[in-house]
Amino acid sequence: MIEPRENIKRLKPYTSARDLVKEEDLIFLDANENPFNSGMNRYPDPHQQVLKDALAGKLKTGASRIFVGNGSDEVIDLAIRAYAEPGKDRVLTLGPTYSMYEVQAAIQNVEVKEIPLDADFQPNPDKVLREVTDRDKILFICSPNNPTGNLVERGKIISLLESFNGLVFVDEAYVDFAPEGSVIDLVENYPNLLVSRTFSKAYGMAGIRLGMGVAQETMIQTLSKIKYPYNVNRLTQQAAMEALENPEKVEQQINTLIRERETLRSRLSGFSFIKKIFPSDANFLLLEVKSAGSLIDFLKKKGIVIRDRSGVIEGKELVRITVGTPQQNQQLIYELKNFDNG
Ligand SMILES: Cc1ncc(COP(=O)(O)O)c(C=O)c1O
Repeated sequence: MIEPRENIKRLKPYTSARDLVKEEDLIFLDANENPFNSGMNRYPDPHQQVLKDALAGKLKTGASRIFVGNGSDEVIDLAIRAYAEPGKDRVLTLGPTYSMYEVQAAIQNVEVKEIPLDADFQPNPDKVLREVTDRDKILFICSPNNPTGNLVERGKIISLLESFNGLVFVDEAYVDFAPEGSVIDLVENYPNLLVSRTFSKAYGMAGIRLGMGVAQETMIQTLSKIKYPYNVNRLTQQAAMEALENPEKVEQQINTLIRERETLRSRLSGFSFIKKIFPSDANFLLLEVKSAGSLIDFLKKKGIVIRDRSGVIEGKELVRITVGTPQQNQQLIYELKNFDNG
């Protein structure tokens, strides 16, 4: 049974003016807003109900099982705020992985224990369980994992859900590039599962800052209790609704990016300075190279920016390249040919 922090259990959340009156088309003189209609003069719906109803279809779950936040980073933050006690509890990560879990925990003064993934970047459930103590409240699993790019096997996630007593947070920021890998359907059976998704990657809307958490109602209610009342603004809710009503463009882009990822992989495999291209279920490739620094500097001079990930695996020179448009990828390959010959 996962219990929130004691103070969160006792917390009486802020009640906003819009919580008290549900009707529309009234004369609202209750929230100290500017009454002149600009389309933006009213606070947004704090429960984001219309958006959640639309997301329920996309995420194949009930609206009451959805939390929406300011990016999935907010979901990570609130999970730690709700379930891990500062100065006492720990959270577990499976490294190398997305660094925000560690940063958010540190901000909350919650200790982090990183357990290494195996050589194929899969977790070893027995190894994880050997490390678990009573203080461990959240286990972060990133699938597909950033920066390694691979999905975590469903069987391993189930095994961890069944044996870890705390909250299992599965971060699916990149899963739209490998939709068969989602574990949202497991929420039904596992009250300790929280799955996050985002509009920042496949949806091409990193600028609107919208992320989702999917879990059973009790957990969603806890997260909702501690969020800022108006955490997702009106413009974001509107932009997300428009995207959800027109899914074809996004689906087309996802297909293009998956195809481009594989084209990029085969073109890159011919270069002598690349030692290894890791398998990817996401919109990026992790490469082991001879010298990350000289490659990054060379490309920067040509106007192309890639990310240094050296050190995330001990002793390896690594770079992470996001899959671009077909034209951007061609430009990248063109410059890399010059680098290879240089
Ligand atoms: C694994 C992972 N999770 C979450 C995020 C953050 O997503 P959002 O933009 O929804 O906050 C990122 C961003 O790079 C990421 O790589």
